[in-house]
Amino acid sequence: MIIIPGPASQELGQKIAQLLEARVVPVEFKLFPDKESYIRFDGDVENKDAIIVQTTSPPQNERLIQLFILADNAKDQGARSITAVIPYFAYTRQDKRFRPGEAFSVKTIMTLLETCGVRRVITVNSHSPKILRSFKIHVDDLSAVGLLAEYFKDKGHDGALALSLGKKAIEMAVEADEVLGGGYGCLSTQRDRITGKVTVSKGSFQAKGCEVIIFDDIISSGGTMAKAVKLIKAEGANKVIAACVHPILVGNSEERILKSGADEIVGTDCVSSSLSNVSVAPLIAKALSIRGV
Ligand code: R5P
Repeated sequence: MIIIPGPASQELGQKIAQLLEARVVPVEFKLFPDKESYIRFDGDVENKDAIIVQTTSPPQNERLIQLFILADNAKDQGARSITAVIPYFAYTRQDKRFRPGEAFSVKTIMTLLETCGVRRVITVNSHSPKILRSFKIHVDDLSAVGLLAEYFKDKGHDGALALSLGKKAIEMAVEADEVLGGGYGCLSTQRDRITGKVTVSKGSFQAKGCEVIIFDDIISSGGTMAKAVKLIKAEGANKVIAACVHPILVGNSEERILKSGADEIVGTDCVSSSLSNVSVAPLIAKALSIRGV
């Protein structure tokens, strides 16, 4: 097995390789002045099981093209198998045609990955695991919620109430509660498909006087999390922490969430940021060592 850390996941790729004691094939890359990507493998991949590590957080279009080029290059150079580790999988929120005439974007991405020779995808807390699994490529959707919860426990937050955003994401709160043990619940969210406006409403739990950790898969503009934090603060929570797997953090999202009353924001290195305090490298290394390639 060889690890190929893509331009977007250099550090994470190295960490995974270290944990697996696997050889790294460095990637020489640059952006031409017109922003086209140049990719070259500085090592042999022939007859090897190639693991490409490339997240697709913004600039997602550039990173996706790099991922396709990396995979296709591994195929051309004779790799025996190609696994794409895509910690943050872009476009999974467009997992169906919500309005007539809309593109089914995630289908396009999966089709291109398959064409480029990818046979297995490993991703983390994908927004649409069920949809991803409906294509030909084998998909392993891992959860980093346990790692986040362990991080909070180590920091002395055991006993905190774990809340998740959106009814469908209740498993996140349940998983966190298995580590934190302070109970769980969920907040309902609803997004207007045309204006993008999000409404957050409370579920059947008591936050008054509690330390609360709100878990979401993605913090993008921060609008959803900011509304959730504000609501829980208004319920009388003592402390509110915003946790996410993918800290996309567009624009002033961090400030927005802190201003709404969050004491802290924590994410993972699925997306590299100043708030990515939790590494998913052990999770990915374990998935690669258990099932192989
Ligand atoms: C929505 O379905 C996701 O789980 C997140 O809640 C959402 O993507 C967050 O987006 P934003 O930070 O822009 O409100």
